Amino acid sequence: MSMNTHCTLPNVAKSAPSAAEDSAKDQAQDQAPALIDPFGRKITYVRVSVTDRCDFRCVYCMSEDMEFLPKRDLLSLEELNRLCGAFIARGTRKLRITGGEPLVRRNIMSLFRNLSRHLATGALEELTLTTNGSQLALYAQELADCGVRRVNVSLDTRDPEKFRAITKRGDLDQVLAGIDAAQKAGLSVKLNMVGLKGVNDDEIIPMMIWAHERGMDLTMIEVMPLGSVETERLDQYLPLDAVRARIAERFTLRDLADRTGGPARYVKIEETGGRLGFITPLSHNFCESCNRVRVTCTGTLYMCLGQEDAADLRAPLRNSPTDELLNAALDEAIGRKPKGHDFVIDRTHRDPAVPRHMSVTGG
Ligand code: 5AD
Ligand code: SF4
Repeated sequence: MSMNTHCTLPNVAKSAPSAAEDSAKDQAQDQAPALIDPFGRKITYVRVSVTDRCDFRCVYCMSEDMEFLPKRDLLSLEELNRLCGAFIARGTRKLRITGGEPLVRRNIMSLFRNLSRHLATGALEELTLTTNGSQLALYAQELADCGVRRVNVSLDTRDPEKFRAITKRGDLDQVLAGIDAAQKAGLSVKLNMVGLKGVNDDEIIPMMIWAHERGMDLTMIEVMPLGSVETERLDQYLPLDAVRARIAERFTLRDLADRTGGPARYVKIEETGGRLGFITPLSHNFCESCNRVRVTCTGTLYMCLGQEDAADLRAPLRNSPTDELLNAALDEAIGRKPKGHDFVIDRTHRDPAVPRHMSVTGG
């Protein structure tokens, strides 16, 4: 399959699909029925990790001596494109490209250019990515040209030294320039900030004010027990209900209805007009509305972020040029999607609940 070299998609994501496109979509879905799990949850959101590599080594994410996957194990960009297309034909409406750091994968923009065609047909509602921002200044405009409307940028601190300490090798100015470029290209930016006890807890309110002044939402994330890292998880863990209570002392928080089906809960801050999200996989359960699955860069499908059960999609992709095997593998896997996860961090659970790092499964 050849990769497009042009992106021809200004603003298509916003326009409603035509009747012809609707009926083409219905037809495609007749041929390959939507993916619905045994609990009646329709899988409409897929997160695809395109690399396990990253130019940063965030303390809660990677160990210093990470071993990265050999290239032959990775799906090629063509295979990733085919895989995403198969999900979209089965009802996926939202696709998030993740990593590692997705923008460090060589020629990654060819995947975005290819996937943008699904926005043009209306089969896909949203194409988005989660990035550490280091390469965003280079790619923001091209991403916008491909129909990407929103990006999530990870930013745990605005202090250059702390930034270097958390990411081990990141340059804060480069990321801030990336955020500027994204906004200039018309992308809406949401910041993800992992709350780290004793490290950035004092920066949460200033970060929120700064983000909201610039028209960006901020989402706080609790450290999740994924993969072993050098620091004790318990030392890093900052429960977000305490953060929320502290913010509520100074600001008026209004709960917003949650329509994302994910672990985030959003409030509107009346004083700033901006939104603040809380991702609290450890202290709350959000599984009943889960509409998502994750695929790693090797084509392993994880039906739940917090469980080990997985299905191999690489073999069916590579063993046949058509999608029958792949569709059968998808049916079989979604039929095993578990009801929920069981993360725990406490003194009796020192080992990670799930041994794989976030950079493997995708954030
Ligand atoms: N716990 C919580 N968040 C994590 N991230 C990476 N690893 C972890 C972890 N163990 C975050 C990154 C980024 C998002 C993709 O996931 O900081 O914001
Ligand atoms: Fe890289 Fe993101 Fe992991 Fe940090 S959290 S090391 S930026 S993948």
